[in-house]
Amino acid sequence: MIRPFKKITPIFSESVYVDEQASVIGDVELANDVSIWPGAVLRGDVNKIRVGLRSNIQDNTVCHVEHKSTWNPQGCPLRIGDDVTVGHSVILHGCTIEDRCLIGMGSIVLDGAHIQSEVLLGAGSLVPQGKILESGYLYLGSPVKQIRKLTDEELAHFIYSSTHYVKLKNEYLEKII
Ligand SMILES: CC(C)(COP(=O)(O)OP(=O)(O)OC[C@H]1O[C@@H](n2cnc3c(N)ncnc32)[C@H](O)[C@@H]1OP(=O)(O)O)[C@@H](O)C(=O)NCCC(=O)NCCS
Repeated sequence: MIRPFKKITPIFSESVYVDEQASVIGDVELANDVSIWPGAVLRGDVNKIRVGLRSNIQDNTVCHVEHKSTWNPQGCPLRIGDDVTVGHSVILHGCTIEDRCLIGMGSIVLDGAHIQSEVLLGAGSLVPQGKILESGYLYLGSPVKQIRKLTDEELAHFIYSSTHYVKLKNEYLEKII
């Protein structure tokens, strides 16, 4: 379901796949080759959501934003960079995720958190409000702790994962199911 809110309609670039069981509402922009999987909700009603090239937002993930207020004049938009994999049943709220990250299944990322490029967030992690996760590391836990530097294989996996999802969504777009 794709629908406008307050006359702002989601904008999709080329070859975007939004599953018919996903919901995309309001001020949401999806760059080329983004895929949004069944049950995912991207609700850009009180602030904006931007998703970069080739990123995938998997089943039942909830993406929302924080509104603008006197104590937080810009509110908290949600920004997801290029080649980001967001696993199943994640909650992303008003945070920033830079390029080439993997957000493990069932994780929760709170307002103002900033995940730098090439971070692997283990399944079931919680990233507190405003926390900065440093580029090139594995983080785990609730609340997250920095565990170790990523290996070359793990660093390469970010692009492997986003490329895999681009191929998969192309099959869905071609209805080779
Ligand atoms: C964290 C992860 C990357 C594995 O990293 P690793 O360094 O190979 O870790 P290991 O499997 O060797 O486990 C090391 C320890 O961390 C623990 N651990 C593993 N994953 C964990 C997690 N997500 N949260 C908390 N602890 C975790 C293990 O139980 C183990 O603990 P122990 O030493 O007490 O036995 C992996 O478990 C993970 O969470 N991947 C994300 C997968 C995902 O969600 N992908 C999205 C697909 S859609």
